[in-house]
Amino acid sequence: MPDTGQNYDSIIKKLGEIPTLPLVAAKVNSLLNDPKSNSQEIAEIIKQDQALTTKVLKLINSPYYSIPGGVTDVQRACAFLGYNTLAQIILGLSIFSLFAENPVVNFNLKEFWKHALAVAIGAETIAKKISYPRPEECFTAGLLHDLGKAAMYAISPDDLIDISKTAERDKETFFDTEIKMNGVRHTILGGLLAQRWRLPLVLSTAIRTHHIHYYERVKMLGDLARPVTIVSVANMIAHNNRLGFGGDSKPRIIEDSELAVLGMGKNGLQAVIPVICKGVESSAREFLRSF
Ligand SMILES: [Fe+2]
Ligand SMILES: [Fe+2]
Repeated sequence: MPDTGQNYDSIIKKLGEIPTLPLVAAKVNSLLNDPKSNSQEIAEIIKQDQALTTKVLKLINSPYYSIPGGVTDVQRACAFLGYNTLAQIILGLSIFSLFAENPVVNFNLKEFWKHALAVAIGAETIAKKISYPRPEECFTAGLLHDLGKAAMYAISPDDLIDISKTAERDKETFFDTEIKMNGVRHTILGGLLAQRWRLPLVLSTAIRTHHIHYYERVKMLGDLARPVTIVSVANMIAHNNRLGFGGDSKPRIIEDSELAVLGMGKNGLQAVIPVICKGVESSAREFLRSF
């Protein structure tokens, strides 16, 4: 990848090639912002997209959610999971699906999706552990945190592969390699897309800031520092336990002071890791088959 501003400009320009938010996602997005919306409305919306319904039901029926006997329709799923959880899953998966087409040689998209799913499950598990009031939004923030890499995959796959290969060769993180190569950071790319799609603030903030130092995060983000830190820790857990492939294999050090932002200690971390690994391994295969 040429390390010139020209490459930066052309990638930002190409971002315009990514379609608008999928219709179902756009509708669910607006429902999430409307306190008067209800489960009937959401069932009506998702009915319009059979492929998406299949994906949502696959995930909901995976052992991770462990709904007794399973569910075969969205409205029943809503009764078990609650309106907000279901809406967050639909929003996340419909965006996710947008990038599932057009396989690119030399990039294992399934492993990348598994990384996203691992961060989603990790973030929700941590959120529940620390009694964060909206764990379902942490799930979606985790699922979409690397939206910028998905965008890069769609508009400039050679750059994505180039950065990933260089990171592996230099035993560096994908993010540090992006900086070194003077490319467009995936956090900026994803943040721009989230802004264009008017995603909820917690999602766009997680997408944009999950790699900044937690100390800066706490200073800059106020209440949003907590959910973004949840996503950041879940991301590091996914990397360290090789749950999918997020673009590099460098192990992360999870600092005590970052965990302290969540009111969590090393013991708490050790307790959630096996739960997350089990949740991912029991759900990923069946779920990813639908993509
Ligand atoms: Fe990232
Ligand atoms: Fe990641």
